[in-house]
Amino acid sequence: MIKRLLSYIIPIKIYEKSSKTSGNLEVTWNNGKLVLDSKNTNYSYGSLQKVLRKGLYFIGFDRILKMNEILILGVAGGSVIKTIIKEIGFKGNITGVEIDENTIAIADRFFGLHQIQNYQTVIADANEFVEKRDKKYDLIIIDIFEDTEMPNFLFEKKFINNCKQILQYKGFILFNTMILDDKKIDRNNNFIKQFENEKYYSKSFSKVEYYNQLILIEKI
Ligand SMILES: C[S@@+](CC[C@H](N)C(=O)[O-])C[C@H]1O[C@@H](n2cnc3c(N)ncnc32)[C@H](O)[C@@H]1O
Repeated sequence: MIKRLLSYIIPIKIYEKSSKTSGNLEVTWNNGKLVLDSKNTNYSYGSLQKVLRKGLYFIGFDRILKMNEILILGVAGGSVIKTIIKEIGFKGNITGVEIDENTIAIADRFFGLHQIQNYQTVIADANEFVEKRDKKYDLIIIDIFEDTEMPNFLFEKKFINNCKQILQYKGFILFNTMILDDKKIDRNNNFIKQFENEKYYSKSFSKVEYYNQLILIEKI
């Protein structure tokens, strides 16, 4: 309680763990809220949660409530899962895929992720997971970062085609990206181009919380 109150004056780190993919993972009280950060950016429950909440709002909470299966690629502390369950009241199944078991240990210990009944974590590389999966999802949230970097596979045809394959008819892909230089604008435009046909509708939202661009794809 004291740490929480003090955190309105200065952020207070309460736990630290190294990670293969994200540099350092830090759990910190910040302005009365517990957040998870990597070495150089917020991973969960800070600005990242706000970005994805906006994305979900663009889809529409009513629409999400009618869905059955949601897939989250990149779990970290699981803040988007909390938004979906607590703020939207989603009752269907949520599957989260995370490569780093250390972040899941943090998510369970500090953010109670394991207490959510309709949620399950799969520890795996998202690139391999989407290749092997034959189940369909109504919503796929792609939120994969290695600290501030996004791995190249996210923009490759193979991954994109696999995501298309497991996306339910009338389903959505919500892709969180970070744009830190002009090259990343071209990279994102090339991603969107892969959905330019009669089967998909795409829209992007720039400068969401400064550096993030959200890409929203709907299978029509
Ligand atoms: C920004 S965090 C995710 C935040 C989370 N969506 C939330 O709502 O709190 C990015 C996560 O992607 C994970 N990641 C990086 N590469 C991955 C991969 N190839 N497969 C699965 N997860 C990966 C990182 O370990 C990190 O936990």
